Amino acid sequence: MKRGAEPISCLTVYDYSFASMMDAAGVEVLLVGDSLGMVIQGNSTTLPVTVDDVIYHTRCVAKGAPSALIMADMPFGSFQKSPEDAFENASRLLGEGGAHMVKIEGGSLMAETVEFLVARGIPVCGHIGLTPQSVNQLGGFKAQGRDADEAQALQQDAIHLCEAGASLLILEAMPRALGRSITESVSAPTLGIGAGPDTDGQVLVLYDALGLYPRKSPKFSKNFLDGSVSASQAIKNFVSAVRNREFPAPEHYF
Ligand code: KIV
Repeated sequence: MKRGAEPISCLTVYDYSFASMMDAAGVEVLLVGDSLGMVIQGNSTTLPVTVDDVIYHTRCVAKGAPSALIMADMPFGSFQKSPEDAFENASRLLGEGGAHMVKIEGGSLMAETVEFLVARGIPVCGHIGLTPQSVNQLGGFKAQGRDADEAQALQQDAIHLCEAGASLLILEAMPRALGRSITESVSAPTLGIGAGPDTDGQVLVLYDALGLYPRKSPKFSKNFLDGSVSASQAIKNFVSAVRNREFPAPEHYF
């Protein structure tokens, strides 16, 4: 799809019913995100989520999605200790959960772990920019890469992760120009969330995309249920807005 310039759509999902709707609507990538710690469990960050939590939700999703690529998030503490520890947890997400790929937050420092997993048969998606598991270090859920040094560091992170074998990259909350330049400099597809319209695809947290989250949603999200007759229609509208490059609009990026 990257080579054919066909935009890729991705939504987070945590259960069978929404997974079935997304699969039928043609969402290409279903992400069982650790955002479940906030939108499902009601925590104020993603940090309390466990590997067992992600396995439980991935199992529910896998039953509803025979066609889509299912990506499971590696929660905080499940991959940072060592590549061997990451392998143990990632193999559970594939073996017990039914995921096809795992997602790891972090830049160049994680390249060794990405290489270790990929060499052992586990496809990996990198996640850079605003990495919610580092919220305490970043000082809040803030856009990243807004000055030249930070932008250059993120560009290097993307290159190192892809050289290590990452099959996909999520770029979260960064200026449009940086989203574009990273997308052009790597062969792996990029999925943007608040990274502008020039990434190879777009990802949103489902509960933001349907306006269901009771707390504040980020600037880069859009409520697709507004003006749709059902949740299933809203998901179809998201897919077509991504395919037609109508989403994100300028008000959704930096
Ligand atoms: O956990 C999640 O939902 C994510 C998205 C914000 C990309 O990582």
